[in-house]
Amino acid sequence: MKKLQVVGLGGSLSEQSTSLAALSIALEGAAEAGADVTLFDVKVLDLPMYVPGSTAADAPAAARRLADAVGDADGLLWSSPMYHGTLSGAFKNALDWLQLLSDREPAYLTDKVIGLISTAGGTQGLQAVNTMEYVVRALRGWAVPLVVPVAQSWQTFGEDGRVLDSKAEAQLRALGREVVRAARQFAPNPPTTPDAQRAEEAIAGYPA
Ligand SMILES: Cc1cc2nc3c(=O)[nH]c(=O)nc-3n(C[C@H](O)[C@H](O)[C@H](O)COP(=O)(O)O)c2cc1C
Repeated sequence: MKKLQVVGLGGSLSEQSTSLAALSIALEGAAEAGADVTLFDVKVLDLPMYVPGSTAADAPAAARRLADAVGDADGLLWSSPMYHGTLSGAFKNALDWLQLLSDREPAYLTDKVIGLISTAGGTQGLQAVNTMEYVVRALRGWAVPLVVPVAQSWQTFGEDGRVLDSKAEAQLRALGREVVRAARQFAPNPPTTPDAQRAEEAIAGYPA
């Protein structure tokens, strides 16, 4: 049986990123559940700001690698820090580069399942998770119902990036496993049939 591919995208430009640490744990959970996992760290990607009209031919190599890996993935895990009540700009910019998937067949994140994580200094990280869910819907993906907004991230992770809170760790691992479980359900029988796609395009008013 072909191994499922799970791609993680997240982190920040912080020297020691808690959102990256959280993502790594969730990816471990996905690997434990039998998936091949790949991590894209926003800091390492070092993407320039997305330029509308960019194509695979002229996009930076890092953006192409990200879009190709996401396009080939069965499941995704996203992890953003919460900045000013929402996603960080660097994380959102990485998502903007997924516009390269617009002319892929099927387009964007069709039939991919996504697990959502945020880390916040306070307690309102769910706002960042909910904002990510708007992006998931816009890109035609399916967010798993379980989400992990890590509150008071400075208490959850030590200065060396190690997780200090076993409950948060268990939740992150469970999210990774859940993405694999859901992706396994979708893989043999993708819910977005050509009919469903045409219906969505008609409702949304996209050109046929
Ligand atoms: C520019 C900026 C804005 C932030 N805004 C918020 C915020 O609105 N609410 C909050 O709870 N934490 C906020 N924080 C704290 C971060 O969410 C928190 O430190 C997070 O864990 C950082 O993720 P990282 O370790 O991956 O960089 C902010 C931090 C920065 C640098």
